[in-house]
Amino acid sequence: LPAELPSRLAAANIRAIFYNPTLNSMKIVLLGYMGSGKSTVGQELAKALKLPFKDLDQEIEAQMGVSVSEIFDQKGELFFRKKEAVVLEQLLASSAGFVLSLGGGTPCYGNNMGLIEAADKATSIYLKAKVAELTLRLKRGQEQRPLLAGRSEDDLMEFIAKHLFERMPFYERADHVVEVSSKSVDQLVEELKGLLQVG
Ligand code: S3P
Repeated sequence: LPAELPSRLAAANIRAIFYNPTLNSMKIVLLGYMGSGKSTVGQELAKALKLPFKDLDQEIEAQMGVSVSEIFDQKGELFFRKKEAVVLEQLLASSAGFVLSLGGGTPCYGNNMGLIEAADKATSIYLKAKVAELTLRLKRGQEQRPLLAGRSEDDLMEFIAKHLFERMPFYERADHVVEVSSKSVDQLVEELKGLLQVG
């Protein structure tokens, strides 16, 4: 017997256990309002499923070499929305699987939701949070979010309530809706694994 055979067999077994073609090519798309936990939950879900994690805002920042806030300031929101749609389309066209966290506005512009619905092996999940919880979470780091920067505390809650109401029809087109208020990240990861039937 060649000396390396046992280790080759072991490697093949490990591949058989961990290489799950369905899971490896799955595109899991998390959407929801700013502050709903898309990036935090997405990162943990990706780790649990051993899939790469992608964050649409970060991909845009990497391509542009500046932050989302700077893009809004220097080029305006319309420019950002066009770039966002292009980068989303690029990501969805890849054959490899991933967990992707969108920006809060992504589903609501152009044909982005249509692209997600039509993408091969893609499953979308709306992380749904209550206005009060979103307001609490978004008070922190408000200035890093161009649409919220400079709003007073009273204005913030009213803005979020209206904005969320306008966006809801797009978010509700997701394949699954998961209520996130008062759940831990670990609980959400377990719930999502259950939904995706990969637990
Ligand atoms: C936006 C949400 C942000 C970012 C941009 C616009 C929005 O992403 O894409 O500031 O329109 O809701 P997060 O939801 O990750 O904060």
